Amino acid sequence: MTLAPVLKVESLQTRFKSAQRGKFVHAVDDVSIELYPGEIVGLVGESGCGKSTLGRTIVGLEKASAGRVLLDGVDLSTLSGKALRNSRRALQYVFQDPYSSLNDRQTVGEAIDEAF
Ligand SMILES: Nc1ncnc2c1ncn2[C@@H]1O[C@H](COP(=O)(O)OP(=O)(O)OP(=O)(O)O)[C@@H](O)[C@H]1O
Ligand SMILES: [Mg+2]
Repeated sequence: MTLAPVLKVESLQTRFKSAQRGKFVHAVDDVSIELYPGEIVGLVGESGCGKSTLGRTIVGLEKASAGRVLLDGVDLSTLSGKALRNSRRALQYVFQDPYSSLNDRQTVGEAIDEAF
C-alpha cells in the first residue's frame, strides 16, 4: 500500500510588497514539499531565505501568492468556517522568538493550561 502525504505543498509562493515602490520581496518562490505520516522534515538555509515565511504560509498566517497547501489531500484555500478551524487544529506553529511567544509571567504549565 502506498501512503498518501499528510501535508503536500505545491509550488508555493509568498511575496511581500517591497519598500521600493512597485517591487516585491519573493520570500517563498516555488516551494514544493511532501510530508508522509511519521516523517520529520528539517528546513535549513541562510537567514532571510524564507523558512519562517514558508511555515507561516503553510499554517495560513501569510497569504500565498500562488501554489497550494493540501492537508490530508484537502486544499486549505477551499475551506472556511468550521472545516477550516478543524483543519487548523492539525497544524501547529512554534514561533521562533520565545519572548513574543511565551509570557514570562506564567509558568509553562499555566501557559499550556490557558489554551485548554
Ligand atoms: N511581513 C513582511 N513584509 C515584508 N518582507 C518580509 C516580511 N516577512 C518576511 N519578509 C522578508 O522575507 C524574506 C524571508 O524572511 P524569513 O523571515 O521567512 O526568513 P528566515 O529564513 O526565516 O530567516 P531567519 O533564519 O533569520 O529566521 C526576508 O527578506 C524578509 O525580510
Ligand atoms: Mg525564521
